[in-house]
This record gives sequence, C-alpha cells and structure tokens, in this order.
Amino acid sequence: MITVIPSILAKTPEEFTAMVRKLEPHTKRVHLDIIDGEFAPTTTIKGYKELSECKTDLLFDVHLMVKKPAEQLKHWYETRADRIILHAEAEGDMLAILEELEQNGKRRALALNPETPFQNVGSFLPHLDFIQFMTVNPGFYGSPFIPEVIEKIEQFRGIYPHIAIAVDGGITPTTASLCVGAGASILVVGSYIMNSKDVGEALKNLKAE
Ligand code: DX5
Ligand code: ZN
Repeated sequence: MITVIPSILAKTPEEFTAMVRKLEPHTKRVHLDIIDGEFAPTTTIKGYKELSECKTDLLFDVHLMVKKPAEQLKHWYETRADRIILHAEAEGDMLAILEELEQNGKRRALALNPETPFQNVGSFLPHLDFIQFMTVNPGFYGSPFIPEVIEKIEQFRGIYPHIAIAVDGGITPTTASLCVGAGASILVVGSYIMNSKDVGEALKNLKAE
C-alpha cells in the first residue's frame, strides 16, 4: 500500500494554521518540517508550541532538520506528534536519542540526506518504524528531485526487503512512480499538494502512480 503524507513547511504560526486547515479535510496525517537555520540554510517555526495550541484531529510526523535534536525533544513529548523523524547527519548519540523517544511513547524514523550512504545507519534499523530517503537537499518546498537517490533506494531495498521506505522532496506523480518502483511506500509531498488548487485531486493523482 502506498501512503501519501502532505508536508507542512511554515515560516509563521499563521502559515502553519492555514496549511493545517487546508489539509485536514483530505488526510489523516501530515509531515511537519522543522528547520533550525543550521542544519539547512533556512528556518521554520519551532513547531512544538504551534502544534500544542492547534485544535486538530490530524496525526503528525515531525521531521527535525536540526543540528542538535536532543536539545528540543522534551518539547515534542508534550505534543500530539506520534512519529519523530531524525537526521542521520545530526549531532548527538543517536542510539540514546532513539531509546529516549521510545521511552516517551514516540515512534521513530531516520532520514538520510541525498549524499549520505545508508550503510551509516545499519545499526539503527531495528529501532526504526521506517527509513526516509531525502530526494532533495533539505530546506525548502519545491527543490529539484535528485534522481541519483533512486539507485540508493533500490540497493537498500535489495538488502533490507522488510523496512518501510519513505521518500521526501520533489515528489510529483512522475517521480512518485520512480520511487515506488524502487521500493518506497511512503511519499512525503509538499509543493505538489500545497500549490494545487484542489488538494483532493492532487492526492488522487499521486495515489494513481
Ligand atoms: C524538504 C522538506 C520536505 C518538503 C517537501 O526539506 O523536508 O518535507 O516539505 O516539499 P516538496 O515536495 O515541495 O519538495
Ligand atoms: Zn520533510
């Protein structure tokens, strides 16, 4: 089964709320992008406060594109976010962070930047719900899809046939089809959905792939 998860990359609390309202009639789960200006060259809302104050039934994945994730995890424990996506390139003791998340009732995933080999995270795989391959350089809506990642996903799928694979960045019906062909089952989609006039139609186009 293919799951499409719309992404929210918000620079202000107002933008965050507007995007939540736009998406909530169409999806059960969203992917919230959090960027600290250090891990990638832009910043978003911090997110945990906005999420705590937002009345919605949506489920949240939080994608932490931050240099030091350990410093902010405690804030996320207070929120409704049930899945936290960390970056393999972030600083800190990743095993300790993954264990702490589990103790606090959160599900876990690791994201890999396009140039990061998946061999770097082999020892963490038993702790993960899924692995997320970045198909753009992190930071923005609308970055160009990096086709070289497809081969990395195929290699990973060949070695680990049972771990769910997410892809994040530059996903359209065309690139979705390439990613699904390589083994992805979770498609994180930003601008293709957020720029569309009809979110339901955009979701239908993606699921048709
Ligand atoms: C990129 C973010 C993505 C982004 C995807 O840094 O992690 O989740 O929202 O947006 P599109 O689909 O426009 O590349
Ligand atoms: Zn993301």
